[in-house]
Amino acid sequence: MVNNKEPTREHTPRRVAWITGASSGIGRSVAIRLAQNGWTVAASARNAAALGKLATVLPGIIHPYPLDVTDREATVGAFSAIEANLAPVSLAVFGAGTYRRETIASFDAGEIGEMVALNIMGTVNCLEAAMPPMVARRSGQIAVMASVAGYIGLPGAAGYGATKAALINMCEALYPELDRSGVRMTVVNPGFVDTPLTQRNDFPMPFLISSEEAADHILRGLDRGSFEIAFPWKMKVAMKLLKALPSSLRFALTRRMLRKDT
Ligand SMILES: NC(=O)c1ccc[n+]([C@@H]2O[C@H](COP(=O)([O-])OP(=O)(O)OC[C@H]3O[C@@H](n4cnc5c(N)ncnc54)[C@H](OP(=O)(O)O)[C@@H]3O)[C@@H](O)[C@H]2O)c1
Repeated sequence: MVNNKEPTREHTPRRVAWITGASSGIGRSVAIRLAQNGWTVAASARNAAALGKLATVLPGIIHPYPLDVTDREATVGAFSAIEANLAPVSLAVFGAGTYRRETIASFDAGEIGEMVALNIMGTVNCLEAAMPPMVARRSGQIAVMASVAGYIGLPGAAGYGATKAALINMCEALYPELDRSGVRMTVVNPGFVDTPLTQRNDFPMPFLISSEEAADHILRGLDRGSFEIAFPWKMKVAMKLLKALPSSLRFALTRRMLRKDT
């Protein structure tokens, strides 16, 4: 008898996504959402125990690949291992990152250097690992987690904002070449998201959303395939308006963000 049934999800090969920063916050929620949406997920971060726990959410679908992305060789090695063990990576989401508040009083080259090493160079290591195989296959999608804090300089974010501005610039620089090579580049610019990273903030965070909501925004944006995924829209519009203002007006507003205690 002929089987006329449409192929079911079990018969469709699952594509592989590699997520860095998957042990907590936004990266963890993105990993779970992708796995629920038919992807096989390779999850990377340093905390192997947290990745092991994440893998139990969808056993056999989320695979831990513990990794310190600041280690260039280890990052290239992890990417090769994922492709050898699972399948070619179709989607890479680079979310590993950190934030430290910097004021003039706390301005610390060591701390800013750590943010540069992780937020910029960690992402660069991942790009170095993922781009050539994707370009050779003329397929794939890469999403880099920057921030709306990369649009303009904000008080307290002299180090963090600079790293995120660098990532936005880097993605813009790579976009045309990758596009010509059949690889899609996306930059993700979230506003405030409730994660361990922001839970230590002691100031009001406008338009704060959950990491699950952030993951939904990211998955919808990845499907749309546009260059930038920025959310929530109120934060995106507010920050884009600030960016468009003449600097005198912009500083009049950012001056009001200064805290009395610093
Ligand atoms: N939360 C927000 O409001 C917000 C807004 C805009 C942009 N973002 C960006 O979104 C990304 C995720 O932030 P989040 O809020 O979800 O923070 P989070 O919960 O602190 O997650 C950060 C992730 O990065 C991983 N990580 C840190 N150092 C690493 C290293 N050397 N190698 C590999 N992984 C490393 C952490 O895992 P391990 O400690 O296990 O390594 C963790 O999984 C960051 O790039 C952040 O800048 C966040």
